[in-house]
Amino acid sequence: MTRSREVTALYPGSFDPVTLGHEDVAHRTLRVSDRVVVAVAEDSADTKAPLFSLEKRLEMLREVFAEEARIECVSFRGLLVDFARKCGADLVVRGLRAVSDFEYEFQMAQMNRELDPNLEFIFLTPDARLSFLSASLVREVARLGGDVSPFVSPSVLWRLTKRFDPIDPPEV
Ligand code: PNS
Repeated sequence: MTRSREVTALYPGSFDPVTLGHEDVAHRTLRVSDRVVVAVAEDSADTKAPLFSLEKRLEMLREVFAEEARIECVSFRGLLVDFARKCGADLVVRGLRAVSDFEYEFQMAQMNRELDPNLEFIFLTPDARLSFLSASLVREVARLGGDVSPFVSPSVLWRLTKRFDPIDPPEV
């Protein structure tokens, strides 16, 4: 495909923490864009308190995508549509793992379209082996002492292990 100008994709989410499923979707996004802005949202539809602070979630994202020059990791406050405009995004990408994701994603996409009719959303499916994976399941399994090493990168695993260390729960 020849393009007259660079295509920027925005990949927003809570990333609490970033999983191999998120990583897979970000890498797939590079197949349909020149540059991906992975953006961790301070304001999420999920009203529960996050496990990791915004800063730590961003740090983990930067660690896992450190080798990929075409992926930039940032955080944002406020509306997604406003941030998309600010960073010059041509499209917004979300991962779609199963039919159960569809209703939530469809609602969000439609609301965002009401807010900014010019913004396009695309949905990418992760590798089938990662389609069951969610950050909330990873948090739960890690909290209960299960092995989450098949689901997250080593730097994320390290932070999860420290976060749930009963003897020395540190600043992670
Ligand atoms: O990983 P998540 O929690 O499913 O991501 C949801 C996220 C962060 C993409 C969504 O809550 C969002 O866009 N938040 C920014 C605030 C906003 O624009 N809310 C209105 C969405 S229709």
